[in-house]
Amino acid sequence: MFVARPKPSPTPPSTVPPGPPIRSVPTAGTRVALTFDDGPNGQYTDAILATLARHRAPATFFVCGKPASDAAGAAQLLRMHRAGHAIGNHTYDHPRLTTLDDAETARQLRATSDVVERITGQRPTTYRPPGGHHDARVNAIAAAEGMRNVLWDIDTRDWSRPGADAIVHSAVNDARNGSIILLHDGGGNREQTVAALERIVTGLRARGFSLVTVPQLVAAARPA
Ligand code: NI
Repeated sequence: MFVARPKPSPTPPSTVPPGPPIRSVPTAGTRVALTFDDGPNGQYTDAILATLARHRAPATFFVCGKPASDAAGAAQLLRMHRAGHAIGNHTYDHPRLTTLDDAETARQLRATSDVVERITGQRPTTYRPPGGHHDARVNAIAAAEGMRNVLWDIDTRDWSRPGADAIVHSAVNDARNGSIILLHDGGGNREQTVAALERIVTGLRARGFSLVTVPQLVAAARPA
């Protein structure tokens, strides 16, 4: 007798294949990716994770290796990972990669991937260069470390502290299908980002966008 087994739920993609730098990913649907740079941060990352959890909203965190290396930072990375967020590499201590020699560039990236793998069991397949400063040399070194450059097309300028309303307006109104939205959970005072996040999530969903991680966005790319 044939017994139907329940279909296993599909595992969402957690990796990004090699390729050129990504700024946005037009998809067949209406998806956008929220991204948070410069954490983990003792003051702001937990509040951002709590808001994302309350709304069941997945995101992608581009983390620095150094703040992830202590017990508190490691616990935050584990919470990100277990909550289903994607984790990318944002270097060890946030240098401008284009000014470093090859060995130091590789060290910044590898040390961070080592920390992420030690905590989550997975090496990042994406990296985001600090300040967006990159060139072919840096991208080639990152590719040799198994990572593709993920930039953004929507800069909310939350780092300049324009006010929570302005951050919400930029994220919600400027987003289009496939947008990668730049936000920050570390690197400075991020109270405005924390204050803006709930309205960003509800505003994007009210416009019909689903929130996905960067690996999910890339997996949904519309064939060219
Ligand atoms: Ni940064």
